[in-house]
Amino acid sequence: MNRKKATIVTYGCQMNVNETAKMKKLLEENGYDIIDDIHNSDAVFLNTCTVRGGAAGKIEGKLGNLKTIKNSRNGNLIIGVTGCVAQEEKEHLLKRAPYIDIVLGNQNISQLPEIMEKILDGEIEHAVLTNNEDELPPRIDANFGDGITASVAINYGCNNFCTYCIVPYVRGRERSVPLEDIVADVRQYIKKGYKDILLLGQNVNSYGQDFTESSEIKFSKLLDEICKIDGDYWIRYVSPHPKDLTTDVLEIMAKYPEKIASNMHLPVQSGSTEILKKMNRKYTKENYLKLVDNIKDILPNISLTTDIIVGFPGETEENFLDTLDVVRKVQYENAYMFKYSIREGTPAATMEGQIPEDVKQERLLRLMEVQNESAKNISLSYVGKTVKVLVEGPSRRNEEKMTGRISENKVVIFKGDHSLKGTFVKVKIVTAKTWTLYGELV
Ligand code: SAH
Ligand code: SF4
Ligand code: F3S
Repeated sequence: MNRKKATIVTYGCQMNVNETAKMKKLLEENGYDIIDDIHNSDAVFLNTCTVRGGAAGKIEGKLGNLKTIKNSRNGNLIIGVTGCVAQEEKEHLLKRAPYIDIVLGNQNISQLPEIMEKILDGEIEHAVLTNNEDELPPRIDANFGDGITASVAINYGCNNFCTYCIVPYVRGRERSVPLEDIVADVRQYIKKGYKDILLLGQNVNSYGQDFTESSEIKFSKLLDEICKIDGDYWIRYVSPHPKDLTTDVLEIMAKYPEKIASNMHLPVQSGSTEILKKMNRKYTKENYLKLVDNIKDILPNISLTTDIIVGFPGETEENFLDTLDVVRKVQYENAYMFKYSIREGTPAATMEGQIPEDVKQERLLRLMEVQNESAKNISLSYVGKTVKVLVEGPSRRNEEKMTGRISENKVVIFKGDHSLKGTFVKVKIVTAKTWTLYGELV
């Protein structure tokens, strides 16, 4: 039988990347080859994100294209919307775009094959499945494409309700995956040759808090159990919440320097205690800086990265200067910097003191300038050092060069053979730019 073709367009965070990989596997098992071309596909899925305003607008254009393609083929195209916009808008999406066939929420991915079959058989016209928001999704396999990085969701949902954030409303309450399932998945991926294992959750270090009271399983225990697996790999995790980052996690990281990557993404969001309070982050500027000191004491070589929002409602120039101060003090290797964006349905959306766009923009640029300075200084500090690199493949700009990442998550470019893809090599760093290190194979 002829195999069909499907494209999945992925927006948003690593959780969506993980869920796309699961959808790919399901589609492959059900007669589809995965391609990257909406014009030659029999089915196209948009795996969406709604964390910042304007998400609807972003997919609107893409949906318009798909509608045109579908019309030109007398309706012979399955259009699906999955991910957080699907979870948020549910059947309302069909009102806006009745040509969508499938609206599938984050917990319903495993039902994809049966739904497609029903639609192809003409049994149903549309399907909207967005239930089970607070349950653990069934455990299903995934296809991560490159064979190097595999991600494993360790907990789903979020209970923190930061006042700017829509995620708790679209991903439901916190629920942890059983430890033995995670360990089995990691073992399976390592056995298949994956080298970079990414543990995922909206708040990874609250892992296990929903288990029974007598349970002693927590995030550090999970890391410890995973690191007992033999093999040549490293694990990373995103994201820990500063309020829940306990010393036992740092100690486990120190115990396994070869197996746990020397990088931590520790979202600060703001450096101002006053704004942090309005954000409901549950730590102060001083707590956060103290935490960073503790991290650097136990893990002196760790690279820190972060997320920052500028222009949160009520943010004064003085509040913003506190953010700049934290950025200067911590010296992040990298930061994802955002202008506050109104998310309808969250408390911050209706707070007083919304900041004008030009002020947000100006603060963002000033913040980037300060952050880029530390990124550059940190990059330059690698010159002359020899580092362990996980080779990802040929560089996009120059086929003769290979690109890879170090444990601190920095990109390294070096001259090497394509056969090195997916292996660990040693590279001596010769020069550095803000985002990239350049070196020679040792
Ligand atoms: N659970 C993760 C991140 C979730 S969203 C965590 O807590 O780290 C990823 C990032 O998007 C957040 O860290 C925040 O910096 C940003 N973000 C979320 N809501 C936003 C909003 N309304 N406006 C601007 N940025 C936002
Ligand atoms: Fe959103 Fe805060 Fe939960 Fe992260 S911790 S997902 S920012 S509510
Ligand atoms: Fe976006 Fe949903 Fe992730 S809103 S950031 S895709 S959890």
